[in-house]
Amino acid sequence: MKLLVCGGAGFIGSNFARQRVTEHGDAVTVLDKLTYAGREENLADLRDAPGFRFVCAGIEDAAAVVAALEDADAVVNFAAETHVDRSIAEPDAFITTHAVGTFVLLEAARARGVRYLQVSTDEVYGSIEEGSFTEASPLAPSSPYSATKAGADLLVASYHHTYGLEALICRGSNNYGPFQYPEKLIPLMVLNALHGDPLPVYGDGQQVRNWIFVEDFARGIGHVLEHGAPGEAYNVGGPDEAPNLEVVQKIIAYTGVSEDLIEYVTDRPGHDRRYSLGSEKARALGWEPQVRFAEGLERTVDWYRENTGWWEPIRSGDYRAYYERQYGRALG
Ligand code: NAD
Ligand code: DAU
Repeated sequence: MKLLVCGGAGFIGSNFARQRVTEHGDAVTVLDKLTYAGREENLADLRDAPGFRFVCAGIEDAAAVVAALEDADAVVNFAAETHVDRSIAEPDAFITTHAVGTFVLLEAARARGVRYLQVSTDEVYGSIEEGSFTEASPLAPSSPYSATKAGADLLVASYHHTYGLEALICRGSNNYGPFQYPEKLIPLMVLNALHGDPLPVYGDGQQVRNWIFVEDFARGIGHVLEHGAPGEAYNVGGPDEAPNLEVVQKIIAYTGVSEDLIEYVTDRPGHDRRYSLGSEKARALGWEPQVRFAEGLERTVDWYRENTGWWEPIRSGDYRAYYERQYGRALG
């Protein structure tokens, strides 16, 4: 297949591009704006692969999108602003990328008549005390991040309903694994533990997340792209749920630091208490997650330990200023 992968220089998109090139022999064009979260280094091993191409542009740039789409058979859209805390502090870019960017991509896909897959999130359903969300659950997003992602999902669905675009939506739960930017819970805690920095737990640490190893999510997206029915949304959730405090305690155990590093800090405004996805519809297509949380977390800690060259430039750059703004203290 010839794929246009938007946002493919980020965490999940780069894992997806790698899988498609190495396991499926796809010709992949990555279009990415290279925001603070996107890095060409994430795709370094694919640079010389047959049919691989990188285009630096925003999804809101119609001319660049049309040119990049050229002879592609399908578009997979990962491009997004993805950090909930940043959406609370500065929502502007979330609105441009998720609303205008998604619209531009949909128009280009419609003009070419190609299949379109929107990568979305369990956060569009909001928080759930008990049980799990299905694809029929109402959308009830809580943050500027999830509200703009939900808006994008509705626009995608409308392009199928109105224009007959072969559009699909994949809603993932919390991903973790190699190449994740250290603003997110797991890599932040791993790197802080490795440096002996405090481990900032929001509120009481009892918020529950449904964890999926990034390679399982990437495989799920590829599976839905190939086997899903146009017009449908598919939940692609992980096999395990855990409260944040338990996740932090596991990282403490794997890195061998003291529990005294845990620091309870002011809670995130509007913090969703629990996410849980029922993924029977994706499983019925023949996909299932392979990696349990305990194994995936150990693999992730090992990857960050072994790949200092990947995170050292991040941890010594703009991320320091972000961290100080967010946590009111400097990184060690
Ligand atoms: P990320 O922040 O690591 O990467 C996002 C990528 O998009 C970066 O490479 C960035 O440069 C690029 N980008 C941002 N704005 C752009 C624009 N306007 N035009 C082109 N490129 C742009 O994010 P991620 O964690 O890899 O998430 C990828 C997708 O998966 C997102 O749509 C996100 O909502 C969704 N998702 C993420 C998770 C998770 O746990 N990380 C879970 C479910 C769904
Ligand atoms: O559920 C899928 C979503 O998961 C994706 O759509 C988002 O793009 C992704 O960022 C993620 O959102 P979360 O808000 O769940 O992830 P985050 O890693 O920011 O936080 C996970 C949990 O840990 C959440 O309950 C907040 C808490 N937390 C986070 C940070 C960064 C802390 O307690 N301390 C922290 O320092």
